[in-house]
Amino acid sequence: MKGKTCIVTGANSGIGFQTARGLALKGAKVFMICRNPAKGQKALETILAEVPAAELELVIADLSSQKQIRRAGASILDQTDQIDVLVNNAGAWFSKRTMTEDGIESVFAVNHLAYILLTHLIYPALQKAPEARIINVSSDNHFDTKIHFGNLYLDKKYNGLRSYAQSKLGNVLFTYELDRRKTDKHITVNALQPGLVKTDIGLKHTLWLHSFVWKLRRSGGVSPEEGAKTSLYLATSDEVKGVSAKYWDKCKPKPSAKLSHNTEAASKLWDISMELCGIDDFFKPI
Ligand SMILES: NC(=O)c1ccc[n+]([C@@H]2O[C@H](COP(=O)([O-])OP(=O)(O)OC[C@H]3O[C@@H](n4cnc5c(N)ncnc54)[C@H](OP(=O)(O)O)[C@@H]3O)[C@@H](O)[C@H]2O)c1
Repeated sequence: MKGKTCIVTGANSGIGFQTARGLALKGAKVFMICRNPAKGQKALETILAEVPAAELELVIADLSSQKQIRRAGASILDQTDQIDVLVNNAGAWFSKRTMTEDGIESVFAVNHLAYILLTHLIYPALQKAPEARIINVSSDNHFDTKIHFGNLYLDKKYNGLRSYAQSKLGNVLFTYELDRRKTDKHITVNALQPGLVKTDIGLKHTLWLHSFVWKLRRSGGVSPEEGAKTSLYLATSDEVKGVSAKYWDKCKPKPSAKLSHNTEAASKLWDISMELCGIDDFFKPI
């Protein structure tokens, strides 16, 4: 990966940290997008301690804020013309329904819309790479759910799992729809599920009962290093050169939910997401 430039969102902890670390170990330059400056700096220093020659840039952005996503995108484009790999990884789980400063339900904003807006902003730099890869970290939670059109923010019946599952289905629908719409053959876009991974995702914005359940559940999971393997495989392996619009698990493609192949739902969600992100033309450089 020497000479390649990557972006990893949510790079300070869990799967995102291990993805940034793995890319740095392979010689890539990595933009680490993190929300919290202190946590981001600590993560960067941890990688540097192991890989002193690592080229790392910390970009601070709360991805629930479209203003901050736009600022982060502009800051990265100021520093580089070319991005080879974008890993949309940052994700969250909220017990209680909360709204962002943009008036969007937080899980939908961070887990779904932020992937789309950042990809749009960075797209011109992906076009400049000889071969570029977009990797969307989804989850098997996307099975057995739907997009709640008409109640996207679940204001009628909020449930943390339902909101999370919807956002993860959104990741797969976005992946396939982007592949259908893009004309750049040298840019691939794939979604993946990392498996059950021992991270703190279920402890950050959760009520004590949900935290307790997550602690029990994650005890059966794999380490974040193991959980990052599919992201790293998709980012670095020659075996997936040119492979696009697939859903991956344990470094192998597997079928995603039936609904994720529904082109009508994908197109409808695309249009709504563009409007919510204020994007006129996804492929038009800003
Ligand atoms: N763990 C699992 O079993 C599992 C299973 C399937 C899919 N996934 C997916 O894997 C991805 C990574 O999750 P993880 O398990 O590694 O959890 P994690 O350790 O909590 O990592 C999530 C990362 O996203 C960041 N993030 C959350 N909200 C953000 C915001 N508003 N702005 C900027 N960054 C934000 C977090 O930053 P802070 O540290 O500041 O919160 C953290 O760096 C997620 O997309 C998740 O849905 C995880």
